[in-house]
Amino acid sequence: MKPNIHRRLLAATRSYLAGFGETVPEGFLRGAAGAMEERPLSARPLPCLRHLHRISSTAAEENSEIVRLLAENRYAFHWGQTYTATDFGDEFIENYGWLELFGTRGHFANDEMASGFLILGPHLHYPDHHHVAEEIYIPLTGGTAWRKGDGPYAERPAGELIHHPSNVSHAMKTGAEPLLALYLWRGGPLAARSTVTGRAETA
Ligand SMILES: [Fe+2]
Repeated sequence: MKPNIHRRLLAATRSYLAGFGETVPEGFLRGAAGAMEERPLSARPLPCLRHLHRISSTAAEENSEIVRLLAENRYAFHWGQTYTATDFGDEFIENYGWLELFGTRGHFANDEMASGFLILGPHLHYPDHHHVAEEIYIPLTGGTAWRKGDGPYAERPAGELIHHPSNVSHAMKTGAEPLLALYLWRGGPLAARSTVTGRAETA
């Protein structure tokens, strides 16, 4: 029997991560590797899924398996939002969403680590925020500017590993293209809401 779409995305994500080898900070690969029980989550679409069509045409070749699985089966996943329009405005909410693949509330149960995918539409500002958990982002599309701590915004290409240690603030600004990024969280409350210190600007 063919594994279901959630299992196929988990397998593709693990295999993509394994390709980064020792460049992945300590503990993340181990946390993603163990057996995980599937949770029966209902499908939950969001307006930001409309960007997956463009994302699948701009994503780098090496990410194609993950991007294809997400784009072709977008309505089979349980997408979520942490923020509301009160936080960053209506435009942000219409263009933002994430999918937790595994973690304390995702498609697979894992109490130690969380991982999933973030979508941000074009010309969107996700202002400075931080959280206790240590985090890795790997953008699967290019063209987004990322900022860590008090540093400048710098564009990061698809496939670059971006590490945010515990409580270090970070922010993103998308350009003309939408962003799809893989995220991994460990070592903190995995469903915690980020502390936002920045203010959203209209890009
Ligand atoms: Fe973060």
